[in-house]
Amino acid sequence: PIESVAAREILDNRLEPTLRVTVETPVGTGRADVPRGRSRGAHEAHDRRDGDDRYRGQGVKEAVAAVEEDVEPALVGHDATDQRGVDAALLDLDGTRKKERLGGNVVTGVSLAALRAGAAATGLPLYRYVGGADAGVLPLPFFDLIEGGELAGGDLPFQEHQVVPVGADSVAEAVRWTAEVYYELGDILRDEYGEASLNVGDEGGYNPLGVDDPREAFDLELRAVEACGYGGEFALAADVAASHFHDAETGTYALLGESMTRDELLGFYEDLVADYPIVSLEDPLDQHDFAGVADLTDRLDIQIVGDDLFTTNPERLQEGIDHGAANALLWKVNQIGTVTEATEAARLATRNGYAVQVSERSGQTPDTWLADLAVGLGAGQIKTGVTRGERTEQYNRLLEIEAELGDAATFGPPGDALR
Ligand code: PGA
Ligand code: ZN
Repeated sequence: PIESVAAREILDNRLEPTLRVTVETPVGTGRADVPRGRSRGAHEAHDRRDGDDRYRGQGVKEAVAAVEEDVEPALVGHDATDQRGVDAALLDLDGTRKKERLGGNVVTGVSLAALRAGAAATGLPLYRYVGGADAGVLPLPFFDLIEGGELAGGDLPFQEHQVVPVGADSVAEAVRWTAEVYYELGDILRDEYGEASLNVGDEGGYNPLGVDDPREAFDLELRAVEACGYGGEFALAADVAASHFHDAETGTYALLGESMTRDELLGFYEDLVADYPIVSLEDPLDQHDFAGVADLTDRLDIQIVGDDLFTTNPERLQEGIDHGAANALLWKVNQIGTVTEATEAARLATRNGYAVQVSERSGQTPDTWLADLAVGLGAGQIKTGVTRGERTEQYNRLLEIEAELGDAATFGPPGDALR
């Protein structure tokens, strides 16, 4: 049974406060750090912040107090291996749709720390505790080599221009190939765009100065891939995060110095997919436009991922499924709150033929629960940035799990969806 629940205010990769929660049982302790998005969806769980003069209002002292004063008394005595029970107690205590009473960050921290405590109590690695004895699918990573939008300086409208090592056979191969491409891309950028283009954004991808056209970013990535001799082994993908350049009043999109209608933007995507080996587009339209995303999903024969569109929320996902919008769910635990709800969203996706891509947030710590959950869910896809310790630790953990599983490991999404 749970003996104590405690929290501390710690700092994330942006030097912004976040929560570290610890759940103790007589047979094992669980600890988890809470990530934080910057480019957040409108329907995400509430991110509880103090709003006082510390850390420009970003402190989480009230959230720490909520863990100790509200959550601990309600959870002490609960079985830590009963994740559903723990999460149900959290939802009861909160009682709001967007976790406004406790705070989504409180709910996520406690839910994940309890999950870790449950794993510790059973003596299993987290991925196996979550995925059972058969857990063995290592995820194909989507690497955000060139950043833009809200997560970087520079002028690129799309948030992430990803390379996807679809020809790799393992995480080890995927990471090595991509690292080599990353070095090569750095050489090209230094030579042609200047040293300052080697600066990286929140997820550790480059931030080339003077590049404002996504096609130029993709060209650069393809050149680096070719120069390394990996032509054909890599595909491309993007997180467009289109809500950020959508004007809700006129319904238009500000792209490439133009004001595009939805139809014009759909045409732009059709050309893009015809001209480049793109296998996946995330949030290609405004986060409220289910019908538009459904139309695009129909027109393009690639993966369309809903991030802000679904916010890992089973109700939002069901609405998307009813519309035929997208065919993949971006999976972020803290968008919805509890592990149980997030798992329910993943199951709903899978049942309806939607793929699941496990995802980091732009704000996080080196805590590696994400890597374990990606394997535990068997999602077959992950995006977890590129450089910076809080990103590379996820790769290091995946490499460790892959080595531990040996021949029992398989790699990548089921079927040939992305190949
Ligand atoms: P976020 O961005 O973590 O800041 O929300 C990542 C994404 O949009 O996928
Ligand atoms: Zn996104």
